[in-house]
Amino acid sequence: MSMINKILASQLLVFFICVIAEAHARKTLYTDDGICKRMVETQGYACEEHKVTTVDGYILSLQRMPAGRSGKAADKPPVLLHHGLFIVGALLVETLFFFKDAITWLFNTPEESLAYILADKGFDVWLANTRGTKYSSAHTSLSPNDMAYWDWSWDELVSYDLPASLSYVFNHTAQKMHYVGHSLGTLTALAAFSEEQLMNMLRSAALLSPIAHLNQIMSQPTKLAADLFIANDVYWLGLHEFIPNENVASKFLEGICRSLKLNCSDLMTVFTGPNCCINSSRINIFLNNEPQPSSTKNLIHLSQMIRTGKIAKYDYGNEEQNIQHYGEASPPLYDMASIPNGFPLFLSYGGQDMLSDVNDVKLLLTDLKDHHKNKLVLLFIENYAHADFVMGVNAKQIVYDPIMAFFNDN
Ligand SMILES: *[C@@H]1O[C@H](CO)[C@@H](O)[C@H](O)[C@H]1NC(C)=O
Ligand SMILES: *[C@@H]1O[C@H](CO)[C@@H](O)[C@H](O)[C@H]1NC(C)=O
Ligand SMILES: *[C@@H]1O[C@H](CO)[C@@H](O)[C@H](O)[C@H]1NC(C)=O
Repeated sequence: MSMINKILASQLLVFFICVIAEAHARKTLYTDDGICKRMVETQGYACEEHKVTTVDGYILSLQRMPAGRSGKAADKPPVLLHHGLFIVGALLVETLFFFKDAITWLFNTPEESLAYILADKGFDVWLANTRGTKYSSAHTSLSPNDMAYWDWSWDELVSYDLPASLSYVFNHTAQKMHYVGHSLGTLTALAAFSEEQLMNMLRSAALLSPIAHLNQIMSQPTKLAADLFIANDVYWLGLHEFIPNENVASKFLEGICRSLKLNCSDLMTVFTGPNCCINSSRINIFLNNEPQPSSTKNLIHLSQMIRTGKIAKYDYGNEEQNIQHYGEASPPLYDMASIPNGFPLFLSYGGQDMLSDVNDVKLLLTDLKDHHKNKLVLLFIENYAHADFVMGVNAKQIVYDPIMAFFNDN
């Protein structure tokens, strides 16, 4: 490691330790009325809270918006919106500035946010929340204070969370649905599709800022954090829950910016790329809200992808344990080329996105080269970065209108 990496690594360590200690203190704050009462009904929309239990016992919340603001009941198919999860280095910024739960889709005004726009257009809107996030923190036998509660990576989101949320909506509405994912909400969907899962319940999928291959990632702090996580995986696994905190985070970030000689007057840019179209005064409004936890195992899994460039299941780091879990010495790969060629996919990616890098998206498109041309819609937006897709004030015209046209065709 170079000198600068060493300085950075030690800062990261101190930072992460503080953060995790504080996380436990904050847990008591985890009570309120839920997303419907807090966000949706206040905008004049009907909203229902639902719960579904995964096969491995996590109790996930789902919100449903069954009608538009006018009160007219949905007459179009269900759409399940799936938020991202933070990515290793970007975790700081993503969790400081975004809600990485269903609130992602309700961030801007009803005229600008995808969930409201879909409801107003007559879609039956469902919002998913993955395990460990604020509104999906219950479990049939474990508590977030138990180490075993955090023993998962995104493999479990593919195997358990997605099937639970989708089959709940499918059973409840008796209809196939459309899927919209952002960031890691695209990785889990692509991984499931590559195993030919879930598609019996889906009409189509729209993937924004798609994440599959991660080895071209441009975000330098994210890369460094990934290296650190891999180097210390045993240590991190002992901490099991990972939740950043604003105060410590901003101090840490000042340090990281000085070490790397980055101009951090705009932190979101440093980690996610120069978002063109975000209303920065609105970001400040949300700064006071709490960050979302993830499991350290998940961060290590993502770090492995950044390091190896492979889309594989979690690597236990030794042959014996991999054989025990997978019956093979190395973790099995998710083969994106196995995604059925006739499944309708809409992929939108941005030229300024430092997490879903254009070159990584091109690798994914190489995997999808045999996909039927009329079943793969690509929308490249030169001036968009990672957050513009969910928070851009002009995303309706640029991204959401084309998505709705795609849904109407599929
Ligand atoms: C949906 O229905 C199927 C078939 O009845 C059942 O096996 C499955 O557990 C249900 N899923 C949920 C989440 O209720
Ligand atoms: C950092 O960026 C801000 C806004 O883009 C600019 O106003 C400021 O002068 C820059 N600072 C340095 C040291 O380059
Ligand atoms: C930005 O957000 C603020 C706070 O919600 C709002 O008052 C302002 O009109 C918004 N500006 C634009 C350009 O949308």
